Amino acid sequence: MRFGEILKTQEAEGKEKHVPLIEIKKCPECGEDTVMVWVGKEVPHPNTVEHHIKWIQLNGVKQNGQVIHLGTFDLGPVYALPKVVTHLKLNEFKRLFALEYCNIHGLWENSIEV
Ligand SMILES: [Fe+2]
Repeated sequence: MRFGEILKTQEAEGKEKHVPLIEIKKCPECGEDTVMVWVGKEVPHPNTVEHHIKWIQLNGVKQNGQVIHLGTFDLGPVYALPKVVTHLKLNEFKRLFALEYCNIHGLWENSIEV
C-alpha cells in the first residue's frame, strides 16, 4: 500500500466538510503572496474535542519539480477554526498542495496551480 492511497480527495464521501480549499492572493509588487487554506467552507466541519481538524499542512512544488514544505498549522479543538492564512513568496512555485487531518475521517488533500 502506498501513502497516496490513504489520501482522500474531492471524489470521497464527506468532501464538503473535509477537502481543504486553497485561495491565493498574489502581490507581484511586494513579492509577498497571501495563501488561505479553509476546511469546511461549503459545510462547516465539527469542531469538538471528539471530532475536529487537527492540522493543516502546505507544501509547494517549484518550477524545477522540487517539493518544499511551507508550513504546518497545528490546531486545537473548539476555539481554533480550520482556516489558516499565511504569507509566502510563490514566484518560484508552480503548484501548492494542502493536506489536512481530521481525527475521525483521516487525511484529505487538494492542490491549486500557482
Ligand atoms: Fe471529520
